[in-house]
Amino acid sequence: MDKFVIKGGRRLTGEVTISGAKNAAVAILPAVILADEPCVIENVPSISDVNISLRILKEMGAVVENIGKDTYRIDPTGIDKCCVPYETARKMRASYYFLGALLGKFNKARVSMPGGCPLGDRPIDQHLKAFSALGAEYSLSQGMIDLKADKLRGSQIFFDVVTVGATMNAMLAAVKAEGLTVIENAAKEPHIVDLANCLNSMGANIMGAGTDVIKIRGVEHLHGTTYAVIPDQIEAGTFMIAAAATRGDVLIKNVIPKHLESITKKLEKIGVSIEQYDDSIRVWVEGALVKANVKTTPHPGFPTDMQPQIATLLTLAEGTSIVTEGVWEQRFRYVDELRRMGADITVNGKVALIEGTGKLMGAPVKACDLRAGAALIIAGLAAQGITEIEDIFHIERGYDCMEGKLRELGADIEKVSIPDKAVGKNNKKEAV
Ligand code: EPZ
Repeated sequence: MDKFVIKGGRRLTGEVTISGAKNAAVAILPAVILADEPCVIENVPSISDVNISLRILKEMGAVVENIGKDTYRIDPTGIDKCCVPYETARKMRASYYFLGALLGKFNKARVSMPGGCPLGDRPIDQHLKAFSALGAEYSLSQGMIDLKADKLRGSQIFFDVVTVGATMNAMLAAVKAEGLTVIENAAKEPHIVDLANCLNSMGANIMGAGTDVIKIRGVEHLHGTTYAVIPDQIEAGTFMIAAAATRGDVLIKNVIPKHLESITKKLEKIGVSIEQYDDSIRVWVEGALVKANVKTTPHPGFPTDMQPQIATLLTLAEGTSIVTEGVWEQRFRYVDELRRMGADITVNGKVALIEGTGKLMGAPVKACDLRAGAALIIAGLAAQGITEIEDIFHIERGYDCMEGKLRELGADIEKVSIPDKAVGKNNKKEAV
């Protein structure tokens, strides 16, 4: 096992380049299954969730070659299995995208129930609702989901809740279904649009991605493509907040400013200075940081995946801030760890009351999920003294060489190996 050791109190300055988006890549890689020819996917982040997706593709018979930095050539034509190995699939939340892709290509799929970060209940009823609407039957047994369909036919799908995963899965299953599929109450995240653009580059006919109504006309054949994954909006937001928390001055490159609008607006309200360019954004702090209220909602609202990070920043601001988690039932588990560092936060259900103390003290802490881990890094960078963060495997699932990028910006952060303790039931390595 490894841990991060951070000596806090150093301003982050300089430039950092953002990697490809995790939540787009983990859907685009399974989507390659739908093609009848090889595909080249560029700007793929080097993170463990992606490594698991690539391993699954290989285990199913695809030929996967790393042909350049962050670039993979994947030939799916040799795929001869529709079952994703249980042990591999359960490690990662996004393994459920193989359900949609395999069903869309072969009219059948067998994947383990997805794992998932402890964010509260993470049902998949809307995924199953979409597959059923398209004509598939499903059964759940031994922790596996089995799907099969004689023929997939376009249908009307109305989601009861805005769901990124089910919207992506419905697109994957519908692109080759006969006729028109209309998805209503669709999620609008940038990675939804990225998947649609990738599928359309393969010959699919998807319109309206990024709005709450997506229309898909099924096609017979999807050809190969060369497609670059969009930059990671959440990694960019995380570095914006790390720059602000250390009162630094950082130019964050390879971003799409439009994807960062809700984060930018909120940080400016907190007193952070921000300047946007075509594909980069500069973040610095001159005056005091002040309190703010944040409520996370589906895109284009403030992203839930930025909630732990902004809450950490608000512990350094003057005044009392309120953070409301509008997507997940339990996304405040990191608060106990921040309290060890002197944060004054009261949590009541989905609402956290943050008394800005203006400072944090280094302490030994544990990452409980991906974004909680990112928040603890930010806290450690801003804190006085030494912070040690254990269970950093959570962080490495979604951030491409975080410590290297931070060191480039002047942070004093090292990855240190520690003897593996017995992996207890709560130390399971599951992805979000
Ligand atoms: C994706 O999870 C992301 N993960 C999450 O990012 C992100 O927090 C979430 O979208 C919201 O943006 C990946 O893309 C791999 P949802 P997903 O389906 O698809 C309920 C990170 O840090 N729901 O949009 O699982 C669900 O309980 C991770 O990168 C149902 O009720 O999220 C939740 O309350 C954490 N039934 C809400 O919808 C369903 O069938 C949103 O979930 C599906 C979801």
